[in-house]
Amino acid sequence: MPRSLDPVPMSQSATTMSRLMQPDEANVYGNVHGGAILKYIDEAAAVAAWRHARVPKVVTASFERMSFKEPVFVGDILHCHATVRHTGRTSMVIGVRVEGEDPSTGDVRHVASAHVTFVGLDKTGKPTEVPEVRAETEEEQEKMERAQRIHEAIKAALRG
Ligand SMILES: CC(C)(COP(=O)(O)OP(=O)(O)OC[C@H]1O[C@@H](n2cnc3c(N)ncnc32)[C@H](O)[C@@H]1OP(=O)(O)O)[C@@H](O)C(=O)NCCC(=O)NCCS
Repeated sequence: MPRSLDPVPMSQSATTMSRLMQPDEANVYGNVHGGAILKYIDEAAAVAAWRHARVPKVVTASFERMSFKEPVFVGDILHCHATVRHTGRTSMVIGVRVEGEDPSTGDVRHVASAHVTFVGLDKTGKPTEVPEVRAETEEEQEKMERAQRIHEAIKAALRG
């Protein structure tokens, strides 16, 4: 049976991945390395992209608007919230919000944000069509429009 390309609600890809930050991913002051946080963002975005597209593979094409707003410390719980926010023909822009939770108090800070582009691949490794994403609320619609502007900027940069 051919794969369905019916539009997929934004909520279907919503993914939260949580991890306890360990000493081996931090510097001598106990601050978690940016590269370690990037890896977790990439992983959460991959899960969201895959849940949306249901294709054989998804790969990271680019990171956009990566910003680290506050430090994350060893012993914090890192939460990466990822959702597919815009779709092209074969690419998806995934918005990721990263929060740090102090497990002893429950305080949660917004520590980083990123938009990541993933591309869906077929079994032979070629880019393959992905379903459109559908916003169901005003807030989702706004997120979709922001991600669309990012996608358009990437396309313009790729055209050179
Ligand atoms: C991403 C990749 C599959 C694109 O392949 P390609 O031959 O350039 O494919 P196309 O030109 O047909 O583009 C396919 C889609 O990718 C998008 N794309 C290509 N390069 C991109 C980039 N650098 N940033 C963002 N999007 C990109 C295109 O805009 C297009 O989107 P659309 O179909 O929604 O319009 C290819 O560059 C690749 O395999 N890169 C390595 C991926 C990887 O190893 N990631 C790390 C580990 S997962």
